[in-house]
Amino acid sequence: MPQITRRALMAAGAAGLAAPALGQGAFPTRTINVIVPFAAGGPTDTVTRLTAEAMGRDLGQTVVVENVGGAGGTLGAARVAQARPDGYTLLLHHIGMATAPTLYRRLPYDAVNGFETIGLVTEVPMTLVAKKDFPATSLAEAVAVIKREGDKLNYANAGIGAASHLCGLLLMKAVGTAMTTVPFRGTGPAIQELLSGRVDLMCDQTTNTTEQIRSGDIKAFNVTTAERVQSLPNLPTSKEGGLPEFEVSVWHGLYAPKGTPAEIQQRLSRALQTALRDEKLVARFADLGTAPVAQDRATPEAHRRFWQADIAKWKPIIQAAGQFAD
Ligand code: MLT
Repeated sequence: MPQITRRALMAAGAAGLAAPALGQGAFPTRTINVIVPFAAGGPTDTVTRLTAEAMGRDLGQTVVVENVGGAGGTLGAARVAQARPDGYTLLLHHIGMATAPTLYRRLPYDAVNGFETIGLVTEVPMTLVAKKDFPATSLAEAVAVIKREGDKLNYANAGIGAASHLCGLLLMKAVGTAMTTVPFRGTGPAIQELLSGRVDLMCDQTTNTTEQIRSGDIKAFNVTTAERVQSLPNLPTSKEGGLPEFEVSVWHGLYAPKGTPAEIQQRLSRALQTALRDEKLVARFADLGTAPVAQDRATPEAHRRFWQADIAKWKPIIQAAGQFAD
């Protein structure tokens, strides 16, 4: 069946005809690309691959993941903002979609209005982790080392606007000491540097740190959510560790370019909802310290409301901190 283009839908509307219903099988008729705006092997990549595989089963088409890392996720977001709005190029991005509009005063795309929302996906706790021989065994001891060593310590992140950047800012503000920041195209490559001991510390999502914490290949001091995570039950919260203001979790959402027809957004959203009920996905998310959002949050409307509110929430915080990428 031919693909229903936006132009065809508009023409139908202009002719006074009801827009053709997007019947079963009308969309998609070919492979869908989801851009991850960070390197392969990292937390956004992991969430996206699990979600894409389950969505593909519902859509009857392969959903391919492509990594376009760099500039804190803005390069990948730009690629999608500039893509054809036909539902075949999507973006799975995180909290960076709420901070980039303020952190980056010049972007090659409209960071607020350049996307259609499909639905929220998950919210992931973060962990403060360190190389195996870092000289601390608790958050209080890690804070003391950070205060003592300051910029002699290398803190890895995934660029300005990345979750690891925001989490690092919160940590350094709470401790009152800056470390030397070492940016990567994602925390997938960054954690390799932590494993090899070439960087000292990193703040990263449980979807990227759980296995290395369990195996003892890296040290972990705390989880940055109000409650402990079931998959890492021995890890104290920031509050339990003495830094209650060091709290953040990382939400993820699925986007399409501005102008993607509403019927296609709805079809993708239904596939997302089905994917988020998938037993295999739910079990793997749980093992990595997270869970799918409730079904009524995996909708275009709920996602847009949440995203816009989060842009408004972060704007004064970033402006007050004077933290801009350009
Ligand atoms: C990634 O997928 O590499 C991360 O989400 C990067 C980050 O935001 O810290």
